[in-house]
Amino acid sequence: MAAPIAHIMGAPIAHIVGARPNFMKAAPVIRALEDREVAQRVIHTGQHYDATMSDIFFRDLGLPEPDLNLGVGSGSHATQTAALLVALEKAFERERPALVVVYGDVNSTIAAALVAAKLVLPVAHVEAGLRSFDPTMPEEINRRLTDALSELLFVTSPEGIAHLAREGADAASIHFVGNPMIDTLMANLDRFDADAARERLGLETEYAVGTLHRPGNVDSPEAAQRIVSAMVGLSERIQLVIPLHPRGGGQLAAAGLRAGDRLRIVDPMGYIEFLSLVRGARLVVTDSGGIQEETTALGVPCLTVRPNTERPITISHGTNRLVEPEGVLPAAEKVLAGGAAVAGEREGPPLWDGRAGERIADVIEAWLNA
Ligand code: UD1
Repeated sequence: MAAPIAHIMGAPIAHIVGARPNFMKAAPVIRALEDREVAQRVIHTGQHYDATMSDIFFRDLGLPEPDLNLGVGSGSHATQTAALLVALEKAFERERPALVVVYGDVNSTIAAALVAAKLVLPVAHVEAGLRSFDPTMPEEINRRLTDALSELLFVTSPEGIAHLAREGADAASIHFVGNPMIDTLMANLDRFDADAARERLGLETEYAVGTLHRPGNVDSPEAAQRIVSAMVGLSERIQLVIPLHPRGGGQLAAAGLRAGDRLRIVDPMGYIEFLSLVRGARLVVTDSGGIQEETTALGVPCLTVRPNTERPITISHGTNRLVEPEGVLPAAEKVLAGGAAVAGEREGPPLWDGRAGERIADVIEAWLNA
């Protein structure tokens, strides 16, 4: 039944990926559509382009080489988004896709949705409905606008349904499917070798992992100062390894972030290496979105250094809590004393069961047939 779809539709589905967190969300959807023999192609915008920010994820996740790489690269929000709009419009005009599938909340996501909508191409948004209600986060703007332009809204967490309904989304367009990022995690669980990762870095048995890249934490000298103090304080309590995102490295160094034996600063890591490290960590300190979810799925305590989260389910059903920079050390002490709730004792978020990609593919297939 699946094979003729490509024929009937002519133009294939286009998956738009561009930045690191897109890749693990797209992989299970692409795979599930491949199983159904739906014609598809992958367009990489080139928002992330370093080997450690992009290529290694394609290899680790067994993703097909992108059919097209637009090579858009970095810039201010306006510069980057404008370049994305121009390049994506050319790509979509060349071969009008039957459906444009976008992921998450990065600039590539909103740019693809906007271009598609103006060309009257239908858009599917994977990870719809998440809201931090923080208008200072560029991702929040990207989320709201992408959802407003999408015909298929794939929701990872039940509160997303209510957010979308409140904003006037048609109930028929909302599909609660679970979390494809967790599909990828579950599919690769056997490859996350914590001991090997720890030994490769020569870490002590007990260690913490840190990641930092949010503009709110790294862009201003004041914010960088607070976060660096928190990290240095934590490293005096437990050995800390930070795979450092290229953004903000300079600002953090200026604020006094120095590599040493207690505080390891390493290059960004691939998917398997990073989650191996996280799996064996006593705790994770982060300002990432996806890592809040991955630590919940792995049962590793997570301290999120942000004033809010668009992923509150990782607090109510997982291992996450929000902290101020000054709260990192006290919260870490609690975790290390064994006082923190750990997933596994809890039920976990609903439908984070490794089958989100299949549910998404089912909906897309039915939509194409209709
Ligand atoms: C982007 C997303 C953010 C996501 C993050 C994950 C937006 C608005 N933000 O932030 O939501 O959490 O990806 O990593 O889309 N750089 C490199 N090499 C690269 C990519 C970036 O050196 O391969 C450096 C450049 O200095 C660049 C800076 O990182 O200017 C920021 O990159 P950009 O893609 O604009 O945003 P991220 O901070 O990565």
